[in-house]
Amino acid sequence: MIKKTILALSIAASGAAFAQVSVTIDAAKPGPVINKNIYGQFAEHLGTGIYEGMWVGPESKVPNTKGWRNDVVGALKDLHVPLVRWPGGCFADEYHWRDGIGPRDKRPVKVNTNWGGVEESNAVGTHEFFDLAEQLGAEVYVNGNLGTGSNQEMAEWLEYMTSDSKSTLAELRRKNGHEKPWKVDYFAVGNEAWGCGGEMSPQHYAQLYKTATVFLKTPPAVRPKFIASGGNDNDTTWSDELSKIKNKIDGISFHYYTIPTGVWEKKGAATGFAEDQWISTVKNTLKMDDHIKVNAAVMDKNDPQKKIGLFVDEWGTWYDVEPGTNTGFLFQQNSLRDAVVAALNFNIFHAHADRVRMTNIAQMVNVLQAMILTDKDRMILTPTYHAFKMYVPFQDAASLPVAVANNGKYSVGSTTVPQVSASAARAKDGKVYVALVNTNPNKAVDVTVNLSGAKVGKLNGQVLTATAMDAHNTFAQPDAVKPAPFSAQASGGKVVVKLPAKSVVVAAVE
Ligand code: AHR
Repeated sequence: MIKKTILALSIAASGAAFAQVSVTIDAAKPGPVINKNIYGQFAEHLGTGIYEGMWVGPESKVPNTKGWRNDVVGALKDLHVPLVRWPGGCFADEYHWRDGIGPRDKRPVKVNTNWGGVEESNAVGTHEFFDLAEQLGAEVYVNGNLGTGSNQEMAEWLEYMTSDSKSTLAELRRKNGHEKPWKVDYFAVGNEAWGCGGEMSPQHYAQLYKTATVFLKTPPAVRPKFIASGGNDNDTTWSDELSKIKNKIDGISFHYYTIPTGVWEKKGAATGFAEDQWISTVKNTLKMDDHIKVNAAVMDKNDPQKKIGLFVDEWGTWYDVEPGTNTGFLFQQNSLRDAVVAALNFNIFHAHADRVRMTNIAQMVNVLQAMILTDKDRMILTPTYHAFKMYVPFQDAASLPVAVANNGKYSVGSTTVPQVSASAARAKDGKVYVALVNTNPNKAVDVTVNLSGAKVGKLNGQVLTATAMDAHNTFAQPDAVKPAPFSAQASGGKVVVKLPAKSVVVAAVE
């Protein structure tokens, strides 16, 4: 529960009660643009992520537009979702697109072998996915099936989606209700080829990728950006091998999940955790920076002109599933800790905006680190949702160099992390925005915000914090964690703010 009194104390301009961290933003030296697709989402056929969570079908009593829930889509629109990846994940390498077209009552029912062994009705297919993207105003990222599919199947899917000709496949699309071709912004060849996508070596996959892309053709004006399925964690062998490819490669995917314990078999709970798992979660999140650095370094060697992006198309927290839920559904609660994880990752992605030009949090609704949790016709917004919304000004903003001096340290036992994380950018509205995260769950910290070469008048924005580390929203208390207004006045051309314990602040520097 956010306590108004605590917030009021926290956001007051402060005397120097604590060591002062200083954050200096160089607004005169704009860096690379923070591609809006860094705020991309991921919707897989997994658990209730699509069915129930977003898709109820046009006949449902739940208010919907073309089968997609109005409440959920409405809330997602407020996030300015720039891009959605679909249909997987591991599901993508067992998905056959022809199962998901034509009259829904005639579509084959399959078994979702990756996620809980449940029936997959194929009610959501290509046309439905494009309806969702259209309602959100989002770009589309379609993940092709290399594992159990074929080059022919992927090529024909692209033709079905993008051809304006009178070919049989284009006519079939028209017969199924879509006259005009769609624009496929991104198309990936397989997923996690090192694991659920086929347990391949980087060399074997690279050859399959090169062969596949020879046959993946569209009219030139609507050629999607092609994505090769890359590695994970600090394994650079995939980025190295794939960034040597010269043709038809626009991005290499990369996956890294934050697991509190670092152990897959016992990851840690989403709520009710002790402080040792708060700090290990922060520490493990910050590893994203090193993972990007080492992967970007091998890509710089092979692709110095940075033609190929490193797309972190799966990231987020992965906890033990909520007790009593289907272990294959990956349903987990989402607390203030998740918002801090999201903000730390955003700040890292901004710092690598030259190479990281797309990321997709896993996943959009009801799965892993979700924006929204649903229960039948009800929904709640998670702390992660609020973090995404607070960071909207960073979409397509010009990154600005930020120097953090005199940063404090936060420790539990032998684990230590930096206390403050910061990022800044000049947004499309012309204003400079700063994002600050205090990783310490116990102590506020005084932060001086300077703008080199200019005076700061005030900071105006929002803060997200709460009294408990695992504060979260429930259907009984849907607004337990939500942003509050944040402002601080300057004196002498600089502003000193007290950043509350365990908080995220995004503010315009005015
Ligand atoms: O996001 C859940 C799963 O995690 C994805 O399907 C897979 O790509 C990854 O292992």
